[in-house]
Formats: sequence, structure tokens, C-alpha cells
Amino acid sequence: MSQPRPYSREDERLPMLLGFQRVTENTAALTRAIEHGRGIYVYDADGREYIEATASFYVAALGYQNAELIDAIERQYRELPFFVSAHQRTPRVALELAEKLAAIAPVPHAHLLFGASGSEAIDFLIKMLRFGAVARGEPQRTTIIGRHGSYHGGTLASASLTGGHHEEFGLPLAGFRHVAQPDFHGGRLPGESPQAFSERLAAELAALVDAEPAGSIAAFFAEPVCFADGFKVPPAAYFPAIRAVLDAQGIEFVADEVVTGFGRTGSLFGSHTLDLAPHHVTMAKGITSGYFPLSAIAIGADLYAALEDGSERLGVLAHAGTFAAHPVGAAAALKTIEIIERDGLVAHAQAMGEHLARRLAALSDHPLVGDVRTLGLGAGIDFLRRDTDDRPSNDVADANAVMTAVYQALLERGVVARAAGRSLVLAPPLIVTAAEVDEICRRLALALDDVARARRAG
Ligand SMILES: Cc1ncc(COP(=O)(O)O)c(C=O)c1O
Repeated sequence: MSQPRPYSREDERLPMLLGFQRVTENTAALTRAIEHGRGIYVYDADGREYIEATASFYVAALGYQNAELIDAIERQYRELPFFVSAHQRTPRVALELAEKLAAIAPVPHAHLLFGASGSEAIDFLIKMLRFGAVARGEPQRTTIIGRHGSYHGGTLASASLTGGHHEEFGLPLAGFRHVAQPDFHGGRLPGESPQAFSERLAAELAALVDAEPAGSIAAFFAEPVCFADGFKVPPAAYFPAIRAVLDAQGIEFVADEVVTGFGRTGSLFGSHTLDLAPHHVTMAKGITSGYFPLSAIAIGADLYAALEDGSERLGVLAHAGTFAAHPVGAAAALKTIEIIERDGLVAHAQAMGEHLARRLAALSDHPLVGDVRTLGLGAGIDFLRRDTDDRPSNDVADANAVMTAVYQALLERGVVARAAGRSLVLAPPLIVTAAEVDEICRRLALALDDVARARRAG
């Protein structure tokens, strides 16, 4: 597979900016224009084929060109291509989706608020938490806690909640605090048990809460598993220990299921897999398999009651999103969920995840690999290694460099993975087959050897 040319000052700039790369890399020479996709494969303008082993940022759950989903979307376009949800009117299909999500979301008696992106879901929920706090007579309860390394979006509030990349944007906004990610592989003390590690992180959270003014913290947001920070599967003791601190202080727990929702973790929601019982849940990405932008928030009963009370007093809940609850997005989500349920894709994803875990276990003693973490149909291959005394034997800079080299070598072998700090993340579409998992892992083994060879050659 031919390599794109390295960047040069003379290169023609694209008329657009792409995400998470240098601005100088927005050049025609460096950019692959993806033209079409089928199943788990995408094809660029030169006809090169890639396995999308992350479902394109954990979105295309049903893969590309699902004819049934496209038909449902086309039908909705012909019936009602757009209608706003406000002033006592909403698309019928949006109501149907709300009913479906209320039935399946891991929040009892949920009411649904829609948005157009994961970032909007996060922002809208923070806004509702603030409205609810004011309505309950606790206007000071505005602080939100997130975790270093977590990713929650690109808008001002969701980027403030995100655990990194703040200073360069003049963030975070006031009222956002961050605690450690449950990075047991990288962050444990030598010999520390998962239990002791989890208690240490809960103590850090308790200290942060104690240092804030009493009654000022509204909520703690966490992804059940943080993909953005390299697939940090938490130790079993982590969420119970965190939850004990939150519950003691009346702080609500929000599961950001934008990535983990709709089958990724081997249950319909990560909250089910990890038994989280969140107060509220945010969803996006796989909800429509990416065929239309849509997000949703399952709002718990107490907050919903506060929204009712507050809007009664004011005569309005002065909030809307023009494209929230978009009828085409709602039709896409209903059909996506129907296909996932009807075709048993959650159980299939779990089975494929177990197959992936077995294949990756065979690579776990490769000299470059420090740790392999799996859950559901997701995996993180971590290049920070530990010695026999359980001390890191290479530094984070080296682990990052290995990861980047493996990511690049794998791309050259036609597999798109996700580069996430020290770890490479794999999360193929839910429809992936065992033979396709084998192929991803075969190419990964070759890529690891490519990099090991290049490092030996100096
Ligand atoms: C866990 C999580 N939350 C929220 C978001 C933001 O979603 P969006 O990019 O649709 O705004 C992302 C995006 O990657 C995410 O991974």
C-alpha cells in the first residue's frame, strides 16, 4: 500500500480543517478521501481498501450500506424530512423513539431530550442539571466533575468536561473539575491490588469534593469504559468505590454512553455490563449507526420533576435544538435498534469480542506489548510495559512512540485502528465476522513485527 507523501510547505491546502491533526496536515497530499464503504470496509478515492476496525470512531455499528436502514431513512425522507420539536408539536417518529429509548435505557422512568451530536447531549444535560438546581432552590450546585483523559465533546461545556486539551483553548470554563482515570495498568503503584487502587482513586475524589464549597457539585460524568484514553477498563471495585463517595454527598452520577451504548460492551448499554445504575445517560454515535446525526439524553425522574416545577413557575423551559429529534434521525435510530435487537447483534458482538480477546491474548507476549484489555467488542493494546517487580520498564513517551508506529504500520496494512495515547484501540462494527476478526489480528501481528524490526534496525 503506497504511503502518502510527508507534509511540505508547498503543498496545496484543503479548503477544510480535519479533526485531531495538525492544521498543516490539511493538505491534498496527506489526506485520504474516503469514497464508499461496504460492511466493515471503506475505500478511498484511489480504490484502496481499509478495514474500519473502529467502526469509524465507534459509530458505524451496522457497518456500511445496510440496505434495510437506508430504506427506512429513505421512507422517512419521503414522509416527513423535517419538523422541529417545540410548541406542542413533534414528529410522530420522534415520539416512538422516545418511547423505545425510555423502555431500554438504563435509567428507570426516563424522559428523553434529544440533540444532534454527543457534544450537544452533554451540554444539554449540564444545562438541565443547572435548571434543575435552580428550580430546587440550590442555584450554587453547578460544578461538574469529569476525569482526566476522558472525552466528552467539542463544544465549550463538553470540552471543559473532557479531561485534557484545555489550556490551548482557554478552557475549562468555570465549574469543571477533574479526577484520575482508572488507568490500572499505567497508574497503579508496584504490587497495588485493583481494590487498593480503586480505593485510592475514590479517596482522591472524596478529597476534591471536600475541598469544594458544600453543596456546590451537581454531577460526576464518566464513560463506563473510556475509549478515548486507550480503553481503560476499570477494575471491578472502581465504580462502587466512586459511587459510595458520590451518594454520600448527593452528587448525581451520569453515564456518558455515547460510545458504549447500543451493544458495544456486550450488553445494550455499558451501564448494564458494569452494573452502574446511573441517574442520567447520554447517547449518540451508534444510536443511528452514524447514518444520521442524532443524540439523546435519558433524564432520570427526580431531575425531570425539577424541570416540570421550574418550567411551571417560569411558564417555559426555554430550550430547544432545531435539529434535535430530527425525524430522519429518529427513523434511523428506531431501525438501528430494531436490527440490533432482531438480529441478536448484542450477543453476536459479545461472541466476536470474546473471539477478538482470544486472538489478542496470543499477541500479549509480543515484546512490544505491555497490556491487552478487552470488554465486549472492544480492545486496547497498551505499549507501556511492566517488569517482574511490576514497575514500568519503558516510559510513556516510548509507549506513545511505539503506539504511533504500530498504528501507522497497521494503516499501511489496510486496517484503521484508533490511536489513543499509549494504546491502540480496536472496536469493529457489531456485524464483524470471526474471519474478519482473524484478519484484523493477522495484520496486527504483522504490524507489530514491522515495528519491532524497524526498532531493532535503529
Ligand atoms: C464518550 C463521548 N462522549 C461524547 C462525545 C461527543 O460526541 P460528538 O462527537 O458526536 O459531539 C464523544 C465523541 O467522540 C465521546 O467519545
